[in-house]
Amino acid sequence: MAQINDNFIKIPATYLFSEIAKRVAQHKEENPTAPIIRMGIGDVSLPLPDASIDAMIKAAEEQRHAETFRGYGPEQGYAFLRDAIVLNDFTDKGINIEADEIFVSDGAKSDTGNIGDIFDNNNRVAITDPSYPVYVDTNAMAGRAGEPTASGAWTNLVYLPCNAENNFVPALPTEKVDLIYLCYPNNPTGTTLTKEQLTVWVNYAKENNAIILFDAAYEAFITEEDVPHSIYEIEGAKDVAIEFRSFSKTAGFTGTRCGYTVVPKQLMGTSSTGEKVQINKLWNRRQTTKFNGTSYVVQRAAEATYSPEGKLQVKALLDFYKENVSIIREGLIKAGYTVFGGKNAPYVWAKVPQGMGSWDYFDYLLKEKNIVTTPGAGFGASGEGYVRFSAFGSRENTIEAMKRLEK
Ligand code: MLT
Repeated sequence: MAQINDNFIKIPATYLFSEIAKRVAQHKEENPTAPIIRMGIGDVSLPLPDASIDAMIKAAEEQRHAETFRGYGPEQGYAFLRDAIVLNDFTDKGINIEADEIFVSDGAKSDTGNIGDIFDNNNRVAITDPSYPVYVDTNAMAGRAGEPTASGAWTNLVYLPCNAENNFVPALPTEKVDLIYLCYPNNPTGTTLTKEQLTVWVNYAKENNAIILFDAAYEAFITEEDVPHSIYEIEGAKDVAIEFRSFSKTAGFTGTRCGYTVVPKQLMGTSSTGEKVQINKLWNRRQTTKFNGTSYVVQRAAEATYSPEGKLQVKALLDFYKENVSIIREGLIKAGYTVFGGKNAPYVWAKVPQGMGSWDYFDYLLKEKNIVTTPGAGFGASGEGYVRFSAFGSRENTIEAMKRLEK
C-alpha cells in the first residue's frame, strides 16, 4: 500500500473556510428559510468590471479562429499583462520592477501556498498570529512546521502575536528566523503597518539574511496616506522580499482567478553548500514545471482592468466595498462592539463578548442572527476572542446585518 505524507494527518481535518461552509450548510438544512447573510469568507458579490467581460468575450472569439487561436501560453504570463502590471502597479507609482520579475498565476492563494517548494525544510518560519491559514497549513504539509501542540500551535513555527495590546503591530522575533510571512493590509484583522513600521521588517530581513513573503492582496483597499501599497516602496526591499498580488478582491476575480507574484532578480538565497542562488530563477523553474500559465482569456480580463474604463469600473467596485466596510465599522461600534481594522481593508475584526470563545460566538451569530462571520481562532491562537466581518456583501445585507446586531 502506498504510504501517504503523514503531515496531512497532522493538520486540522478541514480547511478553515470549508469548516465554515459545512456549518452554514447544516444550519441552512435545518432552517431552509433562514435569511442568512454571508460576512464570512471574503468572496465578492458584485460582477466583474464590464471592461473585463468585454475583453473575455473578445478573447474567446479569438479562440474560435485558427489565425488567432492560442494554445499553451508562457508559464510566467503573457507580455501584454506583465507589461500592464509593471506600468500601472509599479512604474507609475515610482517603483522599479521589470516584467521578468512578474509571474502571473491563478491567484495569491496558490502562490503563497506554493512558494514553500523552493525553500528548504530547515528554514525557521515566522508567521504573524492570527494569519491567513494557507501560510501555516502549507508549511505543515511540507513538514516545515514540526508537530502540532494541544493549543493548535506548531512546534517549529515562530508565532508573532498581533492583538489589541500591541495595536496589531508584530514585534520582531527574539530568535533568528529565515522566512517571514507578512500580510498588509492584514487578513484577518484588517489593520495595517505604516511605512516606518514596515521598514523595521525590511531592515530586520537584511540584517538576518531573511526573506519576507509579503502578501499585498488587499492593497487596493488602502485609504490612508502613510500605508505602503507595496513592500518595494521601502528602500532595500527588493533585496529581501517577494510580493504577492491578486485581482480577486480588487477587481472581483475570486471565481475568475488571476494574481501575480513579484520575485526581484536581485533577491538571493543560499544553497546547502553556501552558494548564492537567484530566487527568481528557482521560482521560474518551479512554475515552468508545475504550472502551465493562467488562461489566455482570463489574462485578457486582468489586462482590461488597467484600461481607462477598466480603472474607473474597478474604482467603483472598490468604493462600494469601502462604503460597506464603513457601515460595518460604524454599525458594530453602535451595537457596542470593540472593533479594529476596516479603514484600509475589507475586514473588521471585532471582540466577542467576554468569556465567550470565537467559535461559540460564530455559532451564536449563525444560529440566532443568521449572520455568517469567521471565528478569529480559525486564524490562529491570537485570534481567539475575536470574529471577522467581511465587507463583500450587498449593501442591503450589510445594512440588515448591522440592524440585527444592534438589536
Ligand atoms: C478570506 O476570506 O480570508 C479570503 O477570502 C480567503 C482567500 O482569499 O482565499
